[in-house]
Amino acid sequence: MTKTFAVIGDPIDHSLSPNIHNAAFRELDLDCTYIAYKIPKNELNYGLDALKKIKISGFNVTIPHKIDIMKFLDGTDEDSKLIGASNTVTNLNGVLTGYNTDMQGFLDPIIQRELDIKNSNILLYGAGGAARAIIVAFAKQNAKKITIVNRTIEKGKELEELGKKLGLNSEIISLENFEGNKNKYDFVINSTSIGMKNEIFPISQDLIDENSVVYDIVYKPINTDLIKKGKNVNATIIYGYEMLLGQAVRSFEIWMDKKAPYSAMKKAILGGFS
Ligand code: ATR
Repeated sequence: MTKTFAVIGDPIDHSLSPNIHNAAFRELDLDCTYIAYKIPKNELNYGLDALKKIKISGFNVTIPHKIDIMKFLDGTDEDSKLIGASNTVTNLNGVLTGYNTDMQGFLDPIIQRELDIKNSNILLYGAGGAARAIIVAFAKQNAKKITIVNRTIEKGKELEELGKKLGLNSEIISLENFEGNKNKYDFVINSTSIGMKNEIFPISQDLIDENSVVYDIVYKPINTDLIKKGKNVNATIIYGYEMLLGQAVRSFEIWMDKKAPYSAMKKAILGGFS
């Protein structure tokens, strides 16, 4: 019987996950298919019932459900527990198990470029599920300080606490009040959805220079306003599709228990932009 996989979230129509995973299934000649399924913010329980009814084999979770999904899982891996969010779920006869592949997916392109995280000064926009994975990643790699900028201060506070708990010097500033103190940051990361609709990214160019790494996890469009600002100062650029690829490869390997066809998946992502 054909196995069905999905990505759930809202908005979901821009998602490249179906392209990536269907390309991987084709490459390895697997009898599997992957769909995008829109579940609005307050309808997660109904959506999950529907997925169980069609005997979904596994699914990815994206904005805005990565944190809320935790309530509905029967078990999780250690990374999900630490991060407080899951982006990959397996379904074995109705038993849902959550994994987090965002953290490693986020780190992959940094490690590939041999960039130094130790003692770095980080500016992170956003305080959602992806931001939680990012802060744990930096804490594990012994970064020095993280400044979290978020629209909703309460959510940012939770993240600040998480960072402190993990031994990372952390502070939260509201998006509205943030100007920066003209310190240059080693890493500037966007984990919000700002940019998906071609919005201007609210950062002063004074905060980045050629020694900064500018990393936007928004992957469509490829050249977000933040990426353009990074290019203007010759910063090192990391594109959102690179994290997307990293987490997708790991999700595939959890579901299939075999090595993912990396090149076919990368090609599918880049083809998705043409
Ligand atoms: P994910 O799990 O993918 O990280 P999320 O948990 O919904 O998704 O988090 C989305 C992040 O984008 C949050 O930090 C959110 O800010 P709030 O905490 O204030 O909700 C941020 N975000 C989304 N849309 C935004 C916008 N238009 N302006 C500023 N921040 C926004």
